[in-house]
Amino acid sequence: MNQNSFFSRPTGINDAGWKSFSSLAIAILIFTGTSSGGTGPIPASPRERISINDNWRFAKGDPTNISVSLLYDVREQRQARSLAAVEADGNSSLGSMTNSAGATNAPASVIRQWILPSGNRFIKDPARKFVRPAGNLGDSVAYVQPDFDDSAWQQINLPHDWAIAGPFTHSGGGGMGRLPTAGIGWYRKKFSLPAGDPGKKIFLDVDGAMAYSTVWLNGHIVGGWPYGYASWEVDLTPYAKPGGDNELVIRLDNPPNSSRWYPGAGIYRNVWLTKTAPVHVAHWGTYATTPEVSSAATVNLKVTVDNDSAQNVNVTVMTEIFCLDGDGRKTGAAVANIAPADLHVAASTNAVAEGKATVANPKLWGPPPTQKPNRYVAVTTLLQGGNVVDSYETPFGIRTIKFDPNEGFIINGEHVPLHGASDHHDLGALGAAFNTRAAQRQLEMLQDMGCNAIRTSHNPPAPELLELADRMGLLVIDEMSDCWQRSKTPNDFHLIFDDWHQQDMRAQIRRDRNSPSVTFWSIGNEVGEQYTDTNGAALAKQLCDIVHDEDPTRPTITAMNYAGPDMPLPAVVDVIGLNYRGEGIRDTPEFAGTDRIHTHPQYDAYHTKFPDKLILSTETASAFSSRGIYLFPVSREISSPVRDGRGGDSKIHQVSAYELYAVDFGSSADKVFASLERHPFVAGEFVWCGWDYLGEPTPYDSSRSSYAGIIDLAGFKKDRFYLYQAHWRPDFPMAHILPHWTWPERVGQVTPVHVFTSGDEGELFLNGKSLGRKKIGPYEYRLRWDDVVYQPGTLKVITYKNGKPWATDAMKTAGNPVGLKLEPDRSTIGADGKDLSFVTVTVTDKNGLTVPRADDRIHFDLKGPGEIVATDNGDPTSFESFQSPDRKAFNGLCLVIVRGKPGQPGKIELVAKADGLKVGTVSIKTTLK
Ligand code: GAL
Repeated sequence: MNQNSFFSRPTGINDAGWKSFSSLAIAILIFTGTSSGGTGPIPASPRERISINDNWRFAKGDPTNISVSLLYDVREQRQARSLAAVEADGNSSLGSMTNSAGATNAPASVIRQWILPSGNRFIKDPARKFVRPAGNLGDSVAYVQPDFDDSAWQQINLPHDWAIAGPFTHSGGGGMGRLPTAGIGWYRKKFSLPAGDPGKKIFLDVDGAMAYSTVWLNGHIVGGWPYGYASWEVDLTPYAKPGGDNELVIRLDNPPNSSRWYPGAGIYRNVWLTKTAPVHVAHWGTYATTPEVSSAATVNLKVTVDNDSAQNVNVTVMTEIFCLDGDGRKTGAAVANIAPADLHVAASTNAVAEGKATVANPKLWGPPPTQKPNRYVAVTTLLQGGNVVDSYETPFGIRTIKFDPNEGFIINGEHVPLHGASDHHDLGALGAAFNTRAAQRQLEMLQDMGCNAIRTSHNPPAPELLELADRMGLLVIDEMSDCWQRSKTPNDFHLIFDDWHQQDMRAQIRRDRNSPSVTFWSIGNEVGEQYTDTNGAALAKQLCDIVHDEDPTRPTITAMNYAGPDMPLPAVVDVIGLNYRGEGIRDTPEFAGTDRIHTHPQYDAYHTKFPDKLILSTETASAFSSRGIYLFPVSREISSPVRDGRGGDSKIHQVSAYELYAVDFGSSADKVFASLERHPFVAGEFVWCGWDYLGEPTPYDSSRSSYAGIIDLAGFKKDRFYLYQAHWRPDFPMAHILPHWTWPERVGQVTPVHVFTSGDEGELFLNGKSLGRKKIGPYEYRLRWDDVVYQPGTLKVITYKNGKPWATDAMKTAGNPVGLKLEPDRSTIGADGKDLSFVTVTVTDKNGLTVPRADDRIHFDLKGPGEIVATDNGDPTSFESFQSPDRKAFNGLCLVIVRGKPGQPGKIELVAKADGLKVGTVSIKTTLK
């Protein structure tokens, strides 16, 4: 590309086009209509991105009597092969391989061969691309036929999770959340294409569908994608009917035992139709980097142009750069340009234009509170014969990142300790169905706690999650998968790893590499290949090579819970990611001699072995608690594995919220803080986990959801929230007392009181009498008064910092339940059928105090233009349906999620009733934006 040609007209552009671009390029996006070139405004780009989330038909199960196999692959044989591989490696402790799940007597012909070509764009070696078989598949399948009568099917809008409605099951393990995710799901949608569409390219973009998608259009098989967390595109053009109705059909096959957590089920993210001219910017076809940042920043942009026409073409590629505001809108005039470049693209191929711009006085992207998440957008215009054939926007950020083995993580010259949360993708009572407001609420609460980073455990996130992270300034570890070739559950990603890892990985990186929030590429979590010595390391190296090929600007990491510093795997990744190993795993006498993984603390050993690599804890803690449950006696140690009588109660399946208890291999927050403080070279931690999630209910497998979250499944803060806030936001004055102080049965009994504060000292008072002033000692993170004898009344703490009063908190004994208080997180929401209000319902006494153990059954009614989407209470043992308008309070609280009806602004009234209690109500306004 000719970097100096900006002020002279390039060859592919006529006078009118050039004048318009150079003076008013932004108008290109606004003008509509067509132009034959020459005079008049430049026509709008033919690119359209149309949401097709609404009005789908859905049914579970295949039609009867299908004569063709729609099985993706012969799982039984693949499993057997993998099992043999595990045994050959002499290690069977990973995963419990069985041949039962997903096993079928499948015919040898499977649809894999039809699906593999959909990933061809992401296969580097042309010789290894897949060829579509001849003919069609599905001719004999009723549901595939355009004229099939689906009027009896359920009518739904996407994003959709067919399993979240339940019912919960009590057979089998709790790992996947006890909800009916497994099975086949069919989705059908009719849409019309305007008669003016011939000659356009028409693509289907699916942000995520769980799992093994196969797509048909108008009865023809198009392609698909197996990995449920991938975003993917298929080309509908060959089968599309412009000027008429088109019938889109998607079949999903969600295997049992495919995951260690709740995966969700269905088309659970957004779906789009993308229309372009035959010559267009390729799918995820831009790559912005900022190699030099000082008083000016250099922006490099690579633009891949696809020529899907039968003629060779010459195009001009032009880019202007604008600032984005906090809502992601372009502001002001262009701040920089990339000189237009001519590009020759041969028929049915693509070519890359590469150019540079200089942004003066760049506003940098960085994490709050010390930095701001400023962003820019590169608006790329393609001209062919003087006409605009495409316009493509690439939001990006300008920042420098450095990974210093001794200092830690440095962004824009500032050392920022990573205060991260590892989180799964479900949204609690909403299941996996993606909702931007629900995800934003999760991130806002984490940020309020002082969290500045998230790890998308253990898969690529929804694109909107990264958009939120970009806007909010959260750093991201973007993770590919929970396993490679070696399984953890019988039907997990290992079944498709060999065929698909390259495509999945390259697709993820091309989709996400312009996001300034993305800081690390995690190639996998606790993979079984940690056990396979040089073979595992060789595979890790291959994956790192793919990452470096797609994006050399960010480091690779893999979350290791087993590989030691002297093993070959850690040597091949750029950054050392340790799960639980910094604090030591099962490093107490009770685990000595067991065959479970147990190691001493490892930070120093890694630092010595890898003096040139940054170390961070990709997972810490796995501390457990149930919100509002306090069990006695209270451990004197700062960290204990959960046992009956030591934080746990296997009769009620709850864990004490004194926040001293963890999974066997984990540690309390206090222990992790101390170990990180003793090892300042460690860049930080990603706590397991920020929010409770569906599935993996360790230590009580019969439950539905986890105990590890700092925030419960409904979004209520556990006491641990304040422990992290105290440590991560040292300048934010706060103090938090636990437990609650309503213990009629404990009068006269020792009832320890702990305080989390960002101060350094505190004095506790019970009914006005001092119980002593205490200091937080070195490597301590809480104030403990372990010998308090319970008397009803008021507990109050006054905390100090550097000798000066800092923050106070009080806890009062509550009376009997009398009423219900309803508090929406937002009392005005959009009337768009998507926006949500999360209403906290509190059971109160006559003075308005929360009754801390109230479990009243509450019934909810809603009047006005809205609906109750779901209810929850954060209790991991609750099997009430998330859709139920009745729900028991759990330790005084309940959640109702309310949505406004699309296009119907007005007032919603939510009413809560419970036997013997005063009715509670709240109004929520819905508005058209
Ligand atoms: C980790 C694992 C997480 C989760 C966690 C539960 O070892 O990486 O996915 O299972 O344990 O404690």
